[in-house]
Amino acid sequence: MCGIVGYIGEQNAAPILLSGLKKLEYRGYDSAGIAVQEESGIKLVKKEGKLNKLNEAAEKELFNGGTGIGHTRWATHGRPSDLNSHPHADSFSNIVIVHNGIIENFRELKDKLSAEGQDFVSETDTEVAAHLISYYYKDDLKNAVQKAVSELEGSFAMAVMSNTEKDRIIAVRKDSPLIVGIGDNENFLASDIPAYLDYTDDFYILENQEMADIKKDEIKVYSFTGELIADKKRTKIDWDSEMAEKQGYEHFMLKEINEQPESLKWLLQDRLVDGEIDLSESGLEKDWLSNYNKIHIVACGTAYHSGYLAKYLLEDMLKIPVEVEVASEYRYRNPLVDEKTLLIVVSQSGETADTIAALRLAKDMGAAVLALTNSRDSSIARESDKVIYLNAGPEIAVASTKAYTNMVAAFYMLAVDGMRQKKNIDPQKVKQYTADLIKLPELSRQMIVQSEEKIKNIAETYAKKSNIFFIGRNTDYTLALEGALKLKEISYIHAEAYPAGELKHGTLALVEEDVPVVALGSRIDIFSKLFSNLKEVKARGAETLLITIEGQSYDKESVDYVIELPELNQYFAGLLAIIPLQLLAYYTALICDKDIDQPRNLAKSVTVE
Ligand code: AGP
Repeated sequence: MCGIVGYIGEQNAAPILLSGLKKLEYRGYDSAGIAVQEESGIKLVKKEGKLNKLNEAAEKELFNGGTGIGHTRWATHGRPSDLNSHPHADSFSNIVIVHNGIIENFRELKDKLSAEGQDFVSETDTEVAAHLISYYYKDDLKNAVQKAVSELEGSFAMAVMSNTEKDRIIAVRKDSPLIVGIGDNENFLASDIPAYLDYTDDFYILENQEMADIKKDEIKVYSFTGELIADKKRTKIDWDSEMAEKQGYEHFMLKEINEQPESLKWLLQDRLVDGEIDLSESGLEKDWLSNYNKIHIVACGTAYHSGYLAKYLLEDMLKIPVEVEVASEYRYRNPLVDEKTLLIVVSQSGETADTIAALRLAKDMGAAVLALTNSRDSSIARESDKVIYLNAGPEIAVASTKAYTNMVAAFYMLAVDGMRQKKNIDPQKVKQYTADLIKLPELSRQMIVQSEEKIKNIAETYAKKSNIFFIGRNTDYTLALEGALKLKEISYIHAEAYPAGELKHGTLALVEEDVPVVALGSRIDIFSKLFSNLKEVKARGAETLLITIEGQSYDKESVDYVIELPELNQYFAGLLAIIPLQLLAYYTALICDKDIDQPRNLAKSVTVE
């Protein structure tokens, strides 16, 4: 989604803004722009397309000024174009703003401001905010912004400059994230932490409905109603900027796939005390399971797939009813929620608009909310009652990999911790499962090493196909969903996941000579059922890839390729099965020469509904 940057200090702002935008590229965008305060007024350049176009244009402008704001835009209102790109200005070129989010009442405001004589030049909702601030502007930018935001409906993060008050940026946050980086006689502004990790590790994370008045030597944070927040907490971020760089890998996605053994270790290490799972740091009571009679899991995309896997797991291991639903559906129906419901929201970014809305809905209805998120201080982390941090480190590629494995592993921990609380469970079983969890980092490392070369070969064939099917049963079906999403997201090859037994109820009609079918067979209890379905597609000429546990016996004739998973209990083996699927998506997209880290039309953090 859109990205915001800002700089105010002694240095030339333009290169710092451009470097911040580069770091935010991963969020996905279709145009970009910057504006810098100069002696003669605010100078602005904006371009449709990738950042290299903006860099070229900015170089010609010879920017010279120490205060500026910048933006990468992911189009919502109005197509991607130079004109619709941010920053936007009012009719007098006095107010210049960049904005993330959506202003829902922009039509009414536009009509009102047009009647007042303001001229609109773009199709965006953002321009309305520039004109509205201008309408209220007398001689104090903060007052004007404060009045304007009280009239804006929707979600927004904005950075605002005025030509008449040089060396001042006002930043506001409502629902869409914004952070202020603290430097020495210089300060930074960004929608996401990686933008300025090269410059500072010291931040103010703006809360919802807060605004910051930023000068080069002073930052003051206020509420939307104008009260100074004198005790605003500073946050030290312990990622270094190298963690957010590619470290020699061709793409962030490949780097992040390879980081999975490490990131699994980070997740587990803080939650294992004397060989036992301990989730007290997340606020979970020793007997949390007894407080609830049902669980709802709500999330989007890959995070939803982790929750779908967890439904099978938690119901089976804890015997508690679990519903799982995509957040954009959940939020617009009347889910049956009460005080005995545990809502688990899952989100890498912690800022996904639909997931936040679902969280608020269930919370209002009395549910206790547990978040699984990778982002400290994110909206989801702050609004949830309890949080399990995924500890996966920064995930930059739009396609989620290491966050997914940590989501699944976090659900495994939750399931084992829940098992411990059940009276009729053999404590040896809990011990065994905990020991299996501890093996995950090393087994995932082996999985990468063992499968990578094989997958590269398979990808050569898959890159030439236009339809690929993924099948599985039980938790393997949820892995199939994730494998298919990964492949289509970055290679743009059509991929579809099906519960293996359901294929013959319609979709089998599409299976013919040479169509690849990936069969997930990590569930040994129902392997024979899965294998019958594999034989059905083979009989129609499909090219089959089987992913199953080593030592499993099957009719080799029906299988063109096989990837073996190291031996592990069948509840947890799925986590290892996802690794070859991630690699398959990656290498197929690489051969297809696609923009792997920033696939078309997609964004890392989906902050609009
Ligand atoms: C993952 O590869 C996708 N890019 C996407 O489905 C993502 O998982 C989804 O948008 C949810 O994001 P979140 O985890 O940040 O909430």
